[in-house]
Amino acid sequence: MPQLGLGSGGLEGKEGREAICTALRAGYRLIDTALFYRTETEIAAGMRMAGVKRDEVFLCTKVLQKAHAADAQVRDSLKESLRNLGTNYVDLYIIHNPRAGRIKEVWSLLLKLREEGLCKAVGVSNFGVAQLEGLRQAGLELPEVNQIEVHCWRQLPEVTAYHAQRGIATMCMAPLARGRMLGRSDLAKMAEEMGRTEAELAIRWSLQQGYIPIPKSINSERILLNMADGFDLAESQMERIQRLNSGFMSCTMASPCYELPWELVADNIPDPATWGGDRKSKGNGKGHGKGKSYQQKDAEHSIVVLEWLKAYVGRLLGPFCAVLLYSLLGYGPVLGVLAAATAMVTLTA
Ligand SMILES: NC(=O)c1ccc[n+]([C@@H]2O[C@H](COP(=O)([O-])OP(=O)(O)OC[C@H]3O[C@@H](n4cnc5c(N)ncnc54)[C@H](OP(=O)(O)O)[C@@H]3O)[C@@H](O)[C@H]2O)c1
Repeated sequence: MPQLGLGSGGLEGKEGREAICTALRAGYRLIDTALFYRTETEIAAGMRMAGVKRDEVFLCTKVLQKAHAADAQVRDSLKESLRNLGTNYVDLYIIHNPRAGRIKEVWSLLLKLREEGLCKAVGVSNFGVAQLEGLRQAGLELPEVNQIEVHCWRQLPEVTAYHAQRGIATMCMAPLARGRMLGRSDLAKMAEEMGRTEAELAIRWSLQQGYIPIPKSINSERILLNMADGFDLAESQMERIQRLNSGFMSCTMASPCYELPWELVADNIPDPATWGGDRKSKGNGKGHGKGKSYQQKDAEHSIVVLEWLKAYVGRLLGPFCAVLLYSLLGYGPVLGVLAAATAMVTLTA
C-alpha cells in the first residue's frame, strides 16, 4: 500500500476532479473515499483526466453506515461504490465507524467479499482497542488497517501500540487536525525554524512514524506541499513533536466512537443517542443525514460576525455624520450631539 494518500471528503464537482487529477499527476497513488462522501465518481473522472490506469492507484472506500442494517445492504453499498469508481474491485474496503453497529456480522461479510475478490483488503475506521479486541476474542480475523484520527496533537499511544503489536496499519484520517491546530502550538515555531510549513511537518511526522496519512486539500499548491518530501525530521525533532500530544480531537462526531463499548456495537445497532447522533442537524447537503460539517459551522460563524459588524457600523455612521454636518454648518456640537442621539435611537429601534 502506498504510504501517502489523498483524503477526498469534500472534493466535489469540477474543483474536486481537478484536485484529484493534480494529486495523481504529482504522484499520489492512494485515494481515500466513502460512499457517504459522494466523491467516488469524481475520483474516477480525476483518474481519467490524469491518464492514470486503475491498477496504478490504490482505492480505499467505506461501507455506508446505514447499510449495516442488513447484509444485503452492505453488499449493495460495495456494488454502488464499484459502479461509481468504474472498477470491479477496490484495494481496501472498510467499516466506516463502529457506531454503525452489527460489527461481528458486517465484518464477517467483509471477509467474504474479500474472498470473492470484490476487495483486496479489509479494514475498519474509528475503532479503539476494546473494539479490536472484541473482534479478536470473537475468533475473527483482525483488520489489516484501522483508519483513525491520529496526528501530532492526538497521538493515541494505546491504540497505535496495539496496532504495532497485532500488525494493523495505522491510517491517519484528518492528519492536519482539519487545520484547527495550525499556528497554535510549538509546531509553528518548529516550522519557522526549518523554513517549512506546519502541514509539511505534521505529515512528515506521520510518515516517519510509519503511518499512512491521508490529508485532504482542494488547493493545488497545498496538495503538492502535503507530499512533505525533500526533508527528514531528526530524532530530536520527532521527540519535540511527540510532546505536542494533547489529545485534541478535530472530528468531534466520528472520533469519540472509538470508545463505544464493544457490547453495544458487536451484535446490535446502537441507539444514536449513545454517540450523539440524536444531535444531528437537518442535513449537510450530502443527503445521507449527517450533522453539519465543520466548514459549514465556520462559515456560519463568519457570517454572524459580519452581520454584527455591518449592523453596528451602520448604526454609528449615521450619528457620526450628524455631528459632522451640524459642526460644519455652524450649529455647534451641542445641537450635533442631540441630532446624533435622535439618529441613534431611530436606527436602533
Ligand atoms: N473515517 C472517518 O470517519 C473519517 C473522518 C474524517 C476524515 N476522513 C478522511 O480523512 C481525510 C482527511 O481528513 P479531513 O479533511 O477531515 O482533515 P485534514 O486533512 O486534517 O484537513 C483538511 C483541512 O486542512 C486544510 N489544508 C489542507 N492542506 C493544508 C495545508 N498545507 N496548509 C493549511 N491547511 C491545509 C484543508 O483546506 P483546503 O482544502 O482549502 O486546502 C481542509 O480545510 C478526509 O478527506 C477523509 O478521506 C475519514
